[in-house]
This record gives sequence, C-alpha cells and structure tokens, in this order.
Amino acid sequence: MNEITIIKPDDWHLHFRDEDMLLETVPATARCFERAVVMPNLVPPVTTAELALRYKERILAARPAGSSFTPVMTIYLTDKTSVQDIKEAKQAGVLAAKMYPAGATTNSDSGVNSLESLYPVFEALAENNMLLLIHGEVTQKHIDIFDREKEFIDQHMVNIVERVPNLKVVFEHITTKDAVDFVLSAREGVAATITPQHLMLNRNDMLDGGMRPHNYCLPVLKRSTHQQALRDVVKAGSPKFFLGTDSAPHAKHRKESDCGCAGCYSAWSALELYTQVFDELGVLDKLEGFASLYGADFYGLPRNTETVTLVRESWEVPTSITLPNGDPIVPFFAGKQVSWKLK
Ligand code: DOR
Ligand code: ZN
Repeated sequence: MNEITIIKPDDWHLHFRDEDMLLETVPATARCFERAVVMPNLVPPVTTAELALRYKERILAARPAGSSFTPVMTIYLTDKTSVQDIKEAKQAGVLAAKMYPAGATTNSDSGVNSLESLYPVFEALAENNMLLLIHGEVTQKHIDIFDREKEFIDQHMVNIVERVPNLKVVFEHITTKDAVDFVLSAREGVAATITPQHLMLNRNDMLDGGMRPHNYCLPVLKRSTHQQALRDVVKAGSPKFFLGTDSAPHAKHRKESDCGCAGCYSAWSALELYTQVFDELGVLDKLEGFASLYGADFYGLPRNTETVTLVRESWEVPTSITLPNGDPIVPFFAGKQVSWKLK
C-alpha cells in the first residue's frame, strides 16, 4: 500500500506552551489534527475554569487562517483543587483534569502531594462525566527512574480505578509492559495514550554511543522489551490505546544543557511516524482506529468527518526550527528520514 486515507486524527495529549510559542506549536498541530487535548502545565499552571478559558482564547488566536482546529481544554490538579473547581470547569466546557504527582516532570511543582486527599475531586470528576488524565509515575527519589511507572500502578493506579468505579481514567504516555497489561485487564473506562517516541525508541536510543538529549522525555524511554509490548498492543488494535503525541517543545539550549529538560517536540512528524510504525508492524489498517476513532469514542466526542491522506514518500525532518522568539529548537527525529508524508 502506497497511500492511506483515514478520518482526520486527533492528538489526545500535547503541550502547546503559551504566548509567542503558540505561533509555532498550534499551526504545527493543526496541520493534521482536528482536535488536541492541551496539557495545563504552564507557569503558573492552568488550575481553574477561568484560566482554561483564557488559555483557550490564546490558542484559538494562534490558529492558521481558516483552520477548524479545536483545543480540548484541561485543568491542572493541585493539593488545593476543590469539588467547586471541578463543577466550574465542567460548566466552562473543560473535559478533563490532569494529575501530575508533584515533581514528576516539567512544571509539575504545583502538582499533587497527597493523592489520598484528592478522592473527593476524583468523585466530582466522575459525577460531572469528566476524565482524569494521569501522569503515572511515583516521585520517591529512592525508586529507580525506570521503575517509577510500575510503582505508580501498584501504589496508586489500582486504587484510583477501583475506588472510583465510574471515573474515566487515561493513563497518559505509557512506557512499560506493566502499563499495557494493567490497562488491558482494567475495567471499562480505563485507557492509555502512546507517544511516537515510545513506539519507535528504547533507552539504547537515548544512551548508547553517546547521550542524546533530544530523545529524553518523561516517562523516560525503557528497555526494548517494554517498547515491544507497546508495539504489540497497537498491532493488536485494542480500542483502549490511542494516539497522544506528548509533543513537548523545549528550546535547543534547554535540552542541550547540564540539566536538560524532558520532552520531544514531535508535532512536525508525529502522524507520519505513527504511520511508519503501523506500516512496519504490517497493520496500516489499524492506524485509523488508533489515530482517529478510539480516542474520540473514549472521550465521548463525535468522530471527525474530514479525512487526511498519507503517501509513502521519504522526507527528512528539519535539523532545526526557529521559534517565534528567535531561539532554535531541535524537533523530534531531526535530520532523519520519515517514510510517510502527509498529502
Ligand atoms: O517529557 C515530558 N515533557 N514529559 C512530561 O510529562 C512533560 C513534558 C513537558 O511539559 O515538557
Ligand atoms: Zn505530556
């Protein structure tokens, strides 16, 4: 097959950032995605309905002319989030709340320290038919960074899913076989997003032969057996697993630093790279479900009606992009060949 047409995809997890950065990130995503779930980890974070609405306006203002791209807004849970905050978010059209364990990742300092005290908020999310999106890693420093996702499942995920049985939970950017197995065996209403980097790479791609900061993201890339489990589950085509790029821009100097930021800026190539993976796996027929159907169904949103076409054609991801403030950024897969192209 040299050409594939699918319903226009959505990106169920990404980072647009703010201000002039939006002029780069919003068009890059709107080029092929109809909707995107926008992460709220700004500085300061998007913790309330009002902040989410204002952020949405800034995103809409950065859309290319004529674009119908629609951001799906989220709020950021803190130790102080109240049931009232959830009700107000619902009224403002916010669909989901993002839970970062405090300190787990970029701009998560205001995240949650005591998960236990958030159960009333989780109940409120369920009552309001909103989703809980989880960064599933523990933050205890004595726990090996490669084990933090599995530990989160054992310490917290099992409880959340069982104690709030009507809550829709998305286990974001999963990286391990443990997470795959957990989601597969979990009750209805539990799903996961998977990034292009976790399907394409393993920790050797970050550390073998030199350190590659542009492949550093969180949760960190794992060993190849985990990568294989992710590839196997998208190959099987379970509707519990769908597209979330976690596209997360950081300027070049912030990545290439003695304490480099986590995140891969994949918006320029993510859809093409997912297509490449599904092609390698011999299941191009499963791409549409993963990219365009299962996420919308899980969120309870209508499926898109437009289509996009990808063709088998090699192109090279730029080695550098200039951000609106003049800083260079190195996109994910920079300088490498991609075998599919958006028509
Ligand atoms: O690699 C990551 N980058 N993981 C996250 O969880 C956050 C993100 C970011 O905001 O840069
Ligand atoms: Zn993210």
